[in-house]
Amino acid sequence: MNEQQWIAMDEYLCERTQAPDEALEAALRESAHAGLPAINVAPNQGKLLHMLARLRGARRILEIGTLGGYSTIWLARALPANGTLLTLEAVERHADVARKNIERAGLSGVVSVIVGDAVDTLESFIRDGIPPFDFIFLDADKQTYPTYLTLALRLSRPGTVILADNVIRGGRVAETNSTDPDVIGVRAFLDMLATSPRLSSTALQTVGSKGWDGFSLSIVAD
Ligand code: SAH
Ligand code: DHB
Ligand code: MG
Repeated sequence: MNEQQWIAMDEYLCERTQAPDEALEAALRESAHAGLPAINVAPNQGKLLHMLARLRGARRILEIGTLGGYSTIWLARALPANGTLLTLEAVERHADVARKNIERAGLSGVVSVIVGDAVDTLESFIRDGIPPFDFIFLDADKQTYPTYLTLALRLSRPGTVILADNVIRGGRVAETNSTDPDVIGVRAFLDMLATSPRLSSTALQTVGSKGWDGFSLSIVAD
């Protein structure tokens, strides 16, 4: 199998499972136009996020790493009328593109894009004692995944779902002696999944239009 076949298969699957969607397509178009990197989730991954949030019945969603708001739109569409999604982004320019994309998708009323280092923002949430989240999507800088998990757990309740993107990185995460800070971060994150008594977890590899990568899925225990 080669990458061209993975892409063709992804296109075929998306044609069979997803209707064309102007707001989502515009979000990708405008993100590319603004020069943002194309590191958003794939359409079928976005729909999986959406479906998992719906299955969880999530009313409060936290996203760490907004980029142009593509995954944000998928997740926010899973919310009930009184739901909220907070999404954290370090780069002002990314947040500006995301806000426009979210507005175009008619989701400004339920989504707040918060600019700043996500660690600072999460620490402020903890200090302020904000209510726990039902679903947390971790997708910012990979070196900081262990810290994000520690903070996310403090913003969770029993039953909270934590999904972390990019835990495979073309298989590089299996390299025990890697000096790549992203790989070291993801490996430390996966070690925490292995040892945290509060988490029940799995992790899956994916191939497709975003190459060879994957995600972990955890449920916070009672
Ligand atoms: N979730 C998006 C993709 C996110 S890409 C999607 O699938 O559509 C990762 C994003 O995390 C980038 O926009 C990057 O600027 C942001 N980021 C990196 N380090 C960060 C930090 N310390 N705090 C907040 N955001 C950060
Ligand atoms: C990268 C980040 C992502 O969130 C992603 O989905 C793919 C790649 C990156 O930083 O390389
Ligand atoms: Mg990602």
